[in-house]
Amino acid sequence: AQHKTLEGKTILITAGPTYEAIDPVRFIGNHSSGKMGFSLAEEAAKRGAKVILVSGPSAEKTNIQNIEIHRVTSAKEMLEEVFKFYENVDIAIASAAVADYAPKEVAKEKIKKNDENLTIELVKNPDILKTMGEKKDHQFLVGFALETQNEEENAKGKLEKKNLDMIVLNSLRDEGAGFKNDTNKIKIFTKTEKTEFDLKSKDEVAKDIFNFIENQLLK
Ligand code: C5P
Repeated sequence: AQHKTLEGKTILITAGPTYEAIDPVRFIGNHSSGKMGFSLAEEAAKRGAKVILVSGPSAEKTNIQNIEIHRVTSAKEMLEEVFKFYENVDIAIASAAVADYAPKEVAKEKIKKNDENLTIELVKNPDILKTMGEKKDHQFLVGFALETQNEEENAKGKLEKKNLDMIVLNSLRDEGAGFKNDTNKIKIFTKTEKTEFDLKSKDEVAKDIFNFIENQLLK
């Protein structure tokens, strides 16, 4: 039987991509499936936690009880939704692939194809996880990093800069890891430790992540 090791805890998880509107029919997005976030949500719920899952556009579904799904579209909406709950959660995990930039203006009508070139001005989106780090009080805060170069250094840099307790690095260089796949290969960093894991299903990865978090909470 499943041990309810997270009984009494409330966990906030962000998942999926964000879509940033260009006009009424187009957007800027990315290939994130939301699978890692949904696997984390299900694992936490199985361990007895109350889960608040804030997800961008994703085809993933769940019928596990104790998961409250809040579906959003853009980074701004995700930020707003997250901060309705952040203050009162014990653990927050940011697994969403938030768009770094959004169109400065959303065209009211569908953009027509006229000129040879079209320029869309982009402005930086809010960094949801960094904002959580700035407002951190009692929360155990977990981020993800997907890097293509200097991966360990960059991941550790983000741990510091975003004021995180731990960061999960997934490498695009490992076959079967990352975005659209059902499998993932991760390394976990805290301020003092580095732990490497084998390639496995995202459901198994979610178990490793919560085993690790539970250990950290005991320290
Ligand atoms: O800085 P970078 O985007 O690589 O950081 C990745 C981590 O930050 C992930 O945990 C991601 O969910 C989070 N993030 C966020 N809001 C953003 C950008 C990234 O929450 N605008």
